Amino acid sequence: MNILITGGAGYIGSHTSITLAKAGHKITIVDNLCNSNIEVIGQITKIIGSKVNFINGDVRNTSLMTKILKEHRIEGVIHFAGLKSITESVANPLLYYSNNVLGSISLIEAMQLNQIKTFVFSSSAAVYGGPAYLPYDEKHPTNPINPYGNSKLQVETILKDWAISDHTVKVSILRYFNPVGAHESGLIGEYPTQFPNNLMPYITKVISGSLTHLNIYGNDYETRDGTGERDYIHVMDLAEGHLAALSHLKNNFGVHIYNLGTGQSTTVLELIKEFEKVNRIEIPYKFSSRREGDLPSYYSDTSKAFKDLGWKTKYDLEQSCQDTYRHVKYIVQLSD
Ligand code: NAD
Ligand code: UFG
Repeated sequence: MNILITGGAGYIGSHTSITLAKAGHKITIVDNLCNSNIEVIGQITKIIGSKVNFINGDVRNTSLMTKILKEHRIEGVIHFAGLKSITESVANPLLYYSNNVLGSISLIEAMQLNQIKTFVFSSSAAVYGGPAYLPYDEKHPTNPINPYGNSKLQVETILKDWAISDHTVKVSILRYFNPVGAHESGLIGEYPTQFPNNLMPYITKVISGSLTHLNIYGNDYETRDGTGERDYIHVMDLAEGHLAALSHLKNNFGVHIYNLGTGQSTTVLELIKEFEKVNRIEIPYKFSSRREGDLPSYYSDTSKAFKDLGWKTKYDLEQSCQDTYRHVKYIVQLSD
């Protein structure tokens, strides 16, 4: 299929572009590069061995999106473009509603004008809010606790209403847990240019020498060792999840919601120990106070994705730590 990937220069979008291209799809990427680097497009080209169409543009520009969808004969859209920092969303909620909600509306309008009805959306475990029970399954109540989570849930609602208004619409909503790892080549991965918010990018900044130590936010939670527990999924497993979701939509109308995680929980200390062991390095850390808005523990029930999509994860945390380190070494060597 001819697939438009919005946000395809970003972390998850770039890895998914590779998986889709390798599966025979023709990829067009739109990204405004607000949180990514143009060089990623060259790396994708190198890995897949053929050129990808790239347009530097903003999904909020409906006329541009309409034109791109038409010119590239797009048949389906995977929508990654969005902002993802929970802290930033609390400080600047309008930015998140503009980018994530208005951006999605603009894109769907452009799709409607072109009669394109296949859509895969990057949602988040953040839509669940505090756990009523664990693991989260897709029926768990949705009650986000920050503007970022609200923005994702609002788009989910819009997509459901779109599918009610048109019964030929095919939508997959993918609720990601915590993506980590990198492509096995080391050429792409997650190495933010800005100050890192998430655990793994923070670790990469510490091991590359940009930051002196990791702050562990809280060691007094009711978890195995007192530190926060999450469900870390290798980004290439996530990429495969998109391919599986897209294939499933071939024969299925309506809206389909899936958790993409591993079903396993790992504490911050367990992740650090694994990273140190696998890569034979030391990660200096200090315990600091809890981060506001953090949940102690959550992880996914992924049985629905397995049942409907036949998808399950292949990589473990060891592989995620190895692949992350390979990418960091590549970046550090480039900047030397
Ligand atoms: P990322 O920041 O690396 O990638 C997002 C890309 O979208 C960036 O390249 C950015 O430049 C682009 N972009 C942002 N706004 C745009 C706009 N208006 N028009 C065009 N391009 C725009 O983030 P990621 O980790 O790859 O996340 C991808 C998607 O997955 C996001 O929607 C995010 O909310 C969602 N998600 C991420 C996580 C995570 O922990 N990484 C977890 C759950 C959900
Ligand atoms: N943590 C630290 N130190 C850090 C960064 C994080 O101790 O420097 C801890 C956190 O307290 C938490 C765990 O590491 O216990 C994971 O934190 P992240 O910031 O990496 O991830 P979150 O689970 O808070 O949030 C992430 C994404 C959201 C997404 C959510 C669910 O940032 O966009 O996962 O998918 F919505």
